[in-house]
Amino acid sequence: MSRDAPLFRRVAIIGLGLIGGSFAAALRERGLAGTLVAGSRSARTLEQGLAMGLIDEGSQDLALAVRGADLVLLSTPVSAMERSLAALAPGLSERAIVTDGGSVKGSVIAAARRTLGGHFSRFVPGHPIAGKETSGVAAADAGLYQDHRVILTPLAQTDPAATRAVRELWTALGSEVLEMTPEHHDRVLAETSHLPHLLAFSLVDTLARQGDSTEIFRYAAGGFRDFTRIASSDPVMWHDIFQENRRAVLDALALFRDGIDGFRDAIEAGDSDALMGIMTRANTARAHFLALNARTSYTQARHSDNESSMSDQHDPTFVVQPGGSLRGRARVPGDKSISHRSIMLGALADGITEVEGFLEGEDALATLQAFRDMGVVIEGPHNGKVTVHGVGLHGLKDPGKPLYMGNSGTSMRLLTGLLAGQAFDVTLTGDASLSKRPMERVAKPLREMGASIQTGDGGRPPVRIRGGQTLKGFHYDLPMASAQVKSALLLAGLYAQGETSVTEPAPTRDHTERMLSGFGYPVRSEGPLRAVTGGGALRACHLEVPADISSSAFLLVGASIAAGSDVLLPHVGINPTRTGVIDILRLMGADITLENQRDSGGEPVADLRVRSAPLKGIEIPAELVPLAIDEFPAIFVAAACAEGDTVLHGAEELRVKESDRIQVMADGLSALGVDLEVFEDGIRITGGVLGGAEVESHDDHRIAMSFAIAGLRATAPITIRHCATVATSFPGFADLMRSLGLGLEVR
Ligand code: S3P
Repeated sequence: MSRDAPLFRRVAIIGLGLIGGSFAAALRERGLAGTLVAGSRSARTLEQGLAMGLIDEGSQDLALAVRGADLVLLSTPVSAMERSLAALAPGLSERAIVTDGGSVKGSVIAAARRTLGGHFSRFVPGHPIAGKETSGVAAADAGLYQDHRVILTPLAQTDPAATRAVRELWTALGSEVLEMTPEHHDRVLAETSHLPHLLAFSLVDTLARQGDSTEIFRYAAGGFRDFTRIASSDPVMWHDIFQENRRAVLDALALFRDGIDGFRDAIEAGDSDALMGIMTRANTARAHFLALNARTSYTQARHSDNESSMSDQHDPTFVVQPGGSLRGRARVPGDKSISHRSIMLGALADGITEVEGFLEGEDALATLQAFRDMGVVIEGPHNGKVTVHGVGLHGLKDPGKPLYMGNSGTSMRLLTGLLAGQAFDVTLTGDASLSKRPMERVAKPLREMGASIQTGDGGRPPVRIRGGQTLKGFHYDLPMASAQVKSALLLAGLYAQGETSVTEPAPTRDHTERMLSGFGYPVRSEGPLRAVTGGGALRACHLEVPADISSSAFLLVGASIAAGSDVLLPHVGINPTRTGVIDILRLMGADITLENQRDSGGEPVADLRVRSAPLKGIEIPAELVPLAIDEFPAIFVAAACAEGDTVLHGAEELRVKESDRIQVMADGLSALGVDLEVFEDGIRITGGVLGGAEVESHDDHRIAMSFAIAGLRATAPITIRHCATVATSFPGFADLMRSLGLGLEVR
């Protein structure tokens, strides 16, 4: 991996322990430094470094060691840095950049300011977040910084060119470089690193000092070992850190004390709700951290136990082998729209709501986490079962931090309505895709009700909601057919004075209205009008979430286009506001039958059977568009495999989904060789032969899954990039599709 020209001609490393030694090894391996020099007071360390081939020269005189160097890395213990800086300063050449690897930034910066004089502007404070329990140069590891983070904390007077050079070097070593203020760094590290080390040291010490400690350690099992692993870390280094970051460590400890006191009180009082609350929140919060760290999906994190195994799971690529057919029975995960609403209404109800068939996908889990953050105790999900301990319409608590909605537009829009009438302020944020989606469509009518809501640039997230407003019922004619806008207004209406009513330009999914009725909250329906009157109450109930027809759509299309297919999908929701996909596919000639139709907790369900059939192109009837709005990516694949033209108009809403689904599907289908024409509000697709290609999902779950089923009719493999978001709505998609016969590989 070495490069043609080194980034630095001469690099001096002061203090050749694990951090400095690994730095030298990594620079060597990648050919990033011309000459490597070490400065250390220990002759033995220098000898070791030379013998290991890590350095070319060594000196016990630090000023001599840095002479002529264009980069100096200071990697002594933090408490020794001031002394080292004072000793090396006289040897620094004018252009030399100095950086460090200390885990506390405030005190190191103060030391550099005192010792470096005019050279201070060339000092770039840094901290590689990497380490091992073993220390010393003997443990040096060229891969220590690969895929780890490095935090730089430059100051206003730091030379930006110096910061850039240090950033470039760490990046070349395979690290991800972040920048923040020194104060922020020290606080974050105190909470996430220094506090856990302190607790581990303290627990082992406390138990070891007990009467018969051998007895305790003999029986100490996995829990003790896991919790205290980090108590094997270098005592000298940690001694320094606790002293040098004194203030932030004390603050973190005070925070922890409050937490542990709460835990203690809950045990003492036998408060089972509070106990359950702490642990269920911690469980999911941990999965969340791991997912964020590994930039992987939340669901994967919940099923993975350690961070290192997560790093392989980044953002998968799907590779689909051409051809095959789908055969068998498949239980598709729970309905996403209904799962969101089950948590929201369950939380606002009085009493305990049991939910079965809950979708354990990222979007619904984002809603679940938001309510946990607002103090609602929620058990599960365990195998689709969730128990929501309702707090009543006025029982939500200030989360004290922004609520993160991930990829989920439904969570953000419905919660904007629901939270507009609370007593507290709250901010809603989302991932890159959600942060591009329009939020004024809910904010604007909610303001007319008296809500105080601010959206970000261009009316996009973050959404900032001011609490303590008085909402007044009003009537709103929806300008677009959107169940999310309708639902947001009805949920705000629960908190408004008088009646809140909406009329929709075309029928959209009515799960909010049905579920409100199921919770005993009256909804007035008159033609296209839906209305609620504020001030009522919701009664907890039992909910069964049917399989999601939107997820089933991939199987309906896949089995239709692949000759020899025959698939049975049990217990799929067939709410008439959702069955546009069945109607459209049938118009195209699909062989889909609804068996065993029944009611399941206020929602109609059926077992769907689909067998392959020759499809023909159609003009998609306008009234079916809102009823199939999420299924168009899959329908476009059906159109590409049909005989003749399929034409869609009146679907401009597709442009503001998780991606611009008209353009993104058009790009992918064109890459497969499909003839098509894009309109502002739709598309014309001419059926034909599908080739192979590499296509981009644009982090849109439904795009990824649509191209996966296209493989059934392709003549060469299809590679689909960035498929992590499939877990937002269809966890287990790849395994399920493989079990039915799709040649899908996840890389
Ligand atoms: C949803 C409504 C639809 C749909 C989304 C889920 C809902 O969005 O696309 O996946 O659960 O209310 P719009 O309201 O923007 O059409």
